[in-house]
Amino acid sequence: MARITAGLATSHVPAIGAALDLGRTAEPYWQPVFSGYEFSKRWIAARAPDVVVLVYNDHASAFSLELIPTFAIGCAESFAPADEGWGPRPVPVVEGHPELAWHIAQSTILDEFDMTIVNRMDVDHGLTVPLSLMFGQPAQWPCRIVPLAVNVVQYPPPTGNRCYHLGKAIRKAVESFPEDLDVMVWGTGGMSHQLQGPRAGLINREFDTRFLDRLTADPEGLARIPHIDYVREAGSEGIELVMWLIMRGALAADAREVYRFYHVPASNTAVGHILLENPR
Ligand code: DHB
Ligand code: FE
Repeated sequence: MARITAGLATSHVPAIGAALDLGRTAEPYWQPVFSGYEFSKRWIAARAPDVVVLVYNDHASAFSLELIPTFAIGCAESFAPADEGWGPRPVPVVEGHPELAWHIAQSTILDEFDMTIVNRMDVDHGLTVPLSLMFGQPAQWPCRIVPLAVNVVQYPPPTGNRCYHLGKAIRKAVESFPEDLDVMVWGTGGMSHQLQGPRAGLINREFDTRFLDRLTADPEGLARIPHIDYVREAGSEGIELVMWLIMRGALAADAREVYRFYHVPASNTAVGHILLENPR
């Protein structure tokens, strides 16, 4: 049977992708960001998951304001890097896992989560930057990816609690997939940031630290935070953090924190990162 062995969360700041693609990771501004992922790169290389269910948000790249699915699962064979205005990132095409994706779609929909099924979708920095942070710059990504896009761009996004329970449904789905697969779930986006308006540049280290603490120790309570608290405390784009609760819901209640990293500044965003492991 397939099983979820671990999860992680990370910010997806597009400038991190540009720094990698342009060979600027050793510059004084970027070096502390990338050094924060060194442990994680070794950790994931050693664990070598077969599949990652990668929870992320599209930033009007694959979808537009004409069509905004709340939850959308990528069931295609592969997903091309999106052109976000300056050409696609020079990163490998993402290879999907259609059988597992369709199984998760069936299982979660029968569990009353109304997933949108996507058979063609380009993937933007929300998905490719986390892959680059964890895997560096390989010729091919080392595992298959099931993209799961969440609307956090247009109000109303799903609640943290809905996301947390979707995570639990994903765990049930994975654990009922007959193939023997080592699966990880990633939550991406965040942490505190606001890209526009009078509060642009907002960072809230205290909120972010408490979020990281509660993600492991008190996910049920954390899932109850209403949207308005995210927006007030973590900025308008801080709402991306609800995606971390999908990852958390997919892990065991007694999952263990393996590593965390927090760094300001990176572009406009507080970079946060955490690794969680299920008990064996
Ligand atoms: C930035 C962060 C994001 O999450 C995003 O989607 C775009 C830009 C930033 O920090 O610049
Ligand atoms: Fe974003």
